[in-house]
Amino acid sequence: MTPSSKVKIAPSILSADFARLGQQVAEATEAGADYIHLDVMDGRFVPNITFGPVVIEGLKSYTNLPLDAHLMIVEPERRIPDFINAGVDHVTVHAEACTHLHRVLQQIKAGGCRAGVALNPATPISAVEEALPFLDIVLILTVNPGFGGQTLIPQVLDKVSRLRAIIDERGYDVELEVDGGVNAQTAAAVVNAGAHTLIAGSAVFNPNESVADALTKLRSSLP
Ligand code: DX5
Ligand code: ZN
Repeated sequence: MTPSSKVKIAPSILSADFARLGQQVAEATEAGADYIHLDVMDGRFVPNITFGPVVIEGLKSYTNLPLDAHLMIVEPERRIPDFINAGVDHVTVHAEACTHLHRVLQQIKAGGCRAGVALNPATPISAVEEALPFLDIVLILTVNPGFGGQTLIPQVLDKVSRLRAIIDERGYDVELEVDGGVNAQTAAAVVNAGAHTLIAGSAVFNPNESVADALTKLRSSLP
């Protein structure tokens, strides 16, 4: 097995055709995606609104892949039960949105889901470091969250490398996801920096190619 074959790819439906969202999720599933990434935005934590638990529940029948929910919302603890009931498998909250981060992680795990913490580009590793023993996923944003199709901020890859070194040195069972501007041009650098999992929206769902072709292109760009 080559190193790149272990890297997971999680297509974000943010850039999918929302008029045929179920089919798009099915296409990504058939094309060999590892997770379906769900960008939940509330118009407060980020300047955009997307979808919530009702839509997610409706997508369940189109895939058997783990549903990777990225909650870009304030006070996530108020809504986590709704997302768990909708059937998500991973719940990732933003460190910047949680006053009581440890309590929120316990809440997610008590609901039977894997627990994740996301960091905005300017948020330091120290915001999550003490929580590493209590979580399953760290998601590093390589763009400012809120919109698909932005350009990866290359300086953030240094943070990815430093966090991956901490995870490996201390032996934590933590999956490192990188989200934002990941495409066939940038993915190799993201993997070389230490990502276990690539989240990609516009590189997978775009009008220029099929989901299957896009995923093949992305995977073949990996080191
Ligand atoms: C950014 C979201 C990302 C986004 C990535 O707010 O968290 O998941 O969909 O989109 P691309 O891959 O187009 O940068
Ligand atoms: Zn995301």
